[in-house]
Amino acid sequence: MTKLRNYPTKDPVLVTCGLPYASGQMHIGHLRTYVPADVFVRLLKKLQVDVTFVSGSDTHGTPILTISESLGISPKELYTKYHNHYLETFPKLNINFDNYGTTDDKENVDRTLQIVKEWQKNDYIYAKDLETPYCDSCGRSLPDRFVRGTCPHCSVDARGDECDQGCGRYLEPGEILNPRCAICGSPTRPVTRTHYYFKLSEFEGFLKDYLTNVDGTKNAKNFALGWIKEGLNDWCITRDLEWGIPYPGDEDLTIYVWVDAPIHYISSTEQWAKKIKKPKEWEKYWKPGNGRIVNYIGLDIVHHHCIFFPAMLKASGYNLASAIVASGMVKIEGHNFSRGRGYVVWVIEDYLDRGLDPDYLRYYIAAYTSQTKDLDFSWDTFAEKVNNELVATLGNFLYRAVHFTHKHFGEVPKGKFDSKLKKELETAIDTITDAVNEYELKKVADEVLRIAAVGNEYFQSQQPWKLVKEDKKKTGEVLYNALALSKALAIFIEPFLPSAAETIWGQLGNDPTSVHETLLKDALIPPAIGVKLSKPAPVISKIDEELLAELKQIISDRVTTASAAQSGEVELKLAPIKDTITFDDFQKIDLRAGKILKCEKVKGKDRLLKIEVDIGTEKRTMVTGLGHLYKPEELEGLTGLFLVNLEPKKIGGIESHGMILAVERADKEGAWVPVKLDELPPGSKAA
Ligand code: 2FM
Ligand code: ZN
Repeated sequence: MTKLRNYPTKDPVLVTCGLPYASGQMHIGHLRTYVPADVFVRLLKKLQVDVTFVSGSDTHGTPILTISESLGISPKELYTKYHNHYLETFPKLNINFDNYGTTDDKENVDRTLQIVKEWQKNDYIYAKDLETPYCDSCGRSLPDRFVRGTCPHCSVDARGDECDQGCGRYLEPGEILNPRCAICGSPTRPVTRTHYYFKLSEFEGFLKDYLTNVDGTKNAKNFALGWIKEGLNDWCITRDLEWGIPYPGDEDLTIYVWVDAPIHYISSTEQWAKKIKKPKEWEKYWKPGNGRIVNYIGLDIVHHHCIFFPAMLKASGYNLASAIVASGMVKIEGHNFSRGRGYVVWVIEDYLDRGLDPDYLRYYIAAYTSQTKDLDFSWDTFAEKVNNELVATLGNFLYRAVHFTHKHFGEVPKGKFDSKLKKELETAIDTITDAVNEYELKKVADEVLRIAAVGNEYFQSQQPWKLVKEDKKKTGEVLYNALALSKALAIFIEPFLPSAAETIWGQLGNDPTSVHETLLKDALIPPAIGVKLSKPAPVISKIDEELLAELKQIISDRVTTASAAQSGEVELKLAPIKDTITFDDFQKIDLRAGKILKCEKVKGKDRLLKIEVDIGTEKRTMVTGLGHLYKPEELEGLTGLFLVNLEPKKIGGIESHGMILAVERADKEGAWVPVKLDELPPGSKAA
């Protein structure tokens, strides 16, 4: 009996990925969504599906503004820097979007305004006076992340728009209890202003039906159905904030970031359509028709994608997602992911810059556990998976098969495809297709490894190294089958390990990049007899013990530094006060404000950074010992206080012409804020 499957399908499929805020470096937490989505897209292509893959940078709202303000740069400067960082980094991980734009792009502003105006026209919007917190000391209204207080649902300390440390619920403006300013800590006073509400409560029945039937992972819809049961409130879609898209009809307000962010899925598709010179093509997904949309998201943004977004689309006549796939969150070495506490692995600094292969990280993230479970990243497990699964099972078989054949035949020898092996591959294709339909990539990876194990068993049982001394023709037949399995494996691993797949595909005598266009069903066609093999080399290599120890040490140091900084322990080991200096001595000191123009690591010295500082009268080179606290790019652009008449001194082989005294530092959530001297424990050093 044929199974009821959503894929393969003749309908075009759009895969979208939650947009990262363009406000910081990429870390492994981000990849929990992007890697599986990319693997899924590649699998759909292998099932001959017409698929488009879009995402973009989230650039509006308080998540961007709080950080840009703390750095003293404009929100646009901030998002441009990190948008470029994302644009460059995704391809390095072989995550290839068909379009990756920003929510500040014209297409997105226009599409957002069109949609909001459509709601206004369709009577889904009303104005209502709302009391929101105001900080007299900062002189501003405090929307979303500018305010902290107590969650009205679970009484845990929360930020203005989300109970980020407790129950995870979305919080409406004005809902948070005991509000205080998140920037200066002052208590707040309520101010009243007219805001605009979307009639979300009218969509309860619709959302219930939609979510009951939508495809994807159960975690997403079950959470959302639970919230609907509790009853939905109308949704305030404006903010008293100067950064964002002005609200049509009351331009002093801006549209809430969670309106224009998911709309970027539409405008990113529009950008893609323009790029391929078929400007109407985006409509095949977003206008009613047979196009399908799959949203890949993290568990923390289910409310926005299962409640707000479908209602938004319904109210303006756009197609809804046919599937919502929510991934579990990421843990680092068994701890909840936290930049502030040091449980973070940076994609560039900790991974790519150390020469680690992006394929291995893709494999870990996509294949370690079920899509819906939390993913525990640990360097030991990483090394174990690479060494035992990728090297010992997969790489071992591929190398033995190709190497042995190359050595004795130099080409694909004559043979007949063993029917048992063919059956194994048919089963694998069936299992992989089922797993794609369940959005469970671990099941796909398990099946691929099973085939690699079948290959090893076959090779071992046929003993071609003995056989070749007795019967070359029979050896050729065995190797023909081993190569048939190798070819199938190259196709199967491509979604997870695109670079390794290219290498083995090339060794099998093909154009390496054409492996990306192969279909799952091509795995049943053995390689053509007589094709010349290229010189084999292992496609996957073990993780070096020394490197592994270094990687573990980095996290451990980061956690120690973070916890010492948080407990004040570092500052509390106080040095004795030095001898008194005279006022005359003091007057000799020349302190100047200076802007850090450039900052780079000093080769081979983890704690040293070389900075180029504009002190007004001239530009100076200085060396600071802040390398364990700051990444070079975090210091660039900051203004600090410098001692400029200190005698030059060689530090780390570089002559330093002055000393930095005060810099900016990270707060507990990892955002960069100016040092407030009155917040430092007595006796601590300012730099
Ligand atoms: O939570 C976040 O990181 C948001 N930037 C996700 C936005 S996803 C979509 F709606 F745009
Ligand atoms: Zn709560």
